[in-house]
Amino acid sequence: MRLDKFLTACGVGSRTEVKKIIKSGAVSVNGKTATKADMHLEVDTDTVTAFGQEIKYREFVYLMLNKPQGYLSATRDGRTPTVMELVPDEYMHFEPFPVGRLDIDTEGFLLLTNDGDLAHRLLSPKKHIPKTYIAQLEKAVDDNAVDAFRAGVVLDDGYKTLPAELKSLSETAPYFAEIVIHEGKFHQVKRMFQAVDNKVLYLKRTKMNGLALDESLELGQVREITEEEMKLLVPENAS
Ligand code: URA
Repeated sequence: MRLDKFLTACGVGSRTEVKKIIKSGAVSVNGKTATKADMHLEVDTDTVTAFGQEIKYREFVYLMLNKPQGYLSATRDGRTPTVMELVPDEYMHFEPFPVGRLDIDTEGFLLLTNDGDLAHRLLSPKKHIPKTYIAQLEKAVDDNAVDAFRAGVVLDDGYKTLPAELKSLSETAPYFAEIVIHEGKFHQVKRMFQAVDNKVLYLKRTKMNGLALDESLELGQVREITEEEMKLLVPENAS
């Protein structure tokens, strides 16, 4: 990979800035000052420093956002703020995007990454990746609803959902329940409750596959997902 491309990919600066930085003599490769922006690098073995600091190459970034209400799960929108506005500048050069969607009024765990393959695997309808939500409901959850979710619910468009787990978390108002679904149809949780004559008043995603939302993240905060945590997120037989 070219030195200027490497430095840009690592977030050192724009292509133009990086060229200037190289010219100024601030960049070294394997201990020697680099002078040519187009010099070839072996990213796995060459050691690059800029202003005396080692620059490590990394292709992908994986971010956990505790999504607040009022933000669209999209990279761009004309008027409404998108979740991208919550991503710290230091990650923007990776060009992350949200993996799947949470409704504008849904809170909780949203993954952002630039790893298209992983996004594809997590979203693939064949993988049945479990997603856990906490909902506040208009009415109490009864056994009929639990059974209906377990059997799969017929939505307003005639689609029958995959079996889902529903657990009541409070028998008295305010009514909270935990739901685990294995697919991601449009407004799925809200429509499933509608199908059993109930209504979602508030929705939060708490878990994707085996990885739970870090509850110490404030609404709107973003942090990187660690390598250990990635093992809980990535589907098994990842292909
Ligand atoms: N189901 C919904 O209805 N909304 C979401 O945001 C996520 C799942």
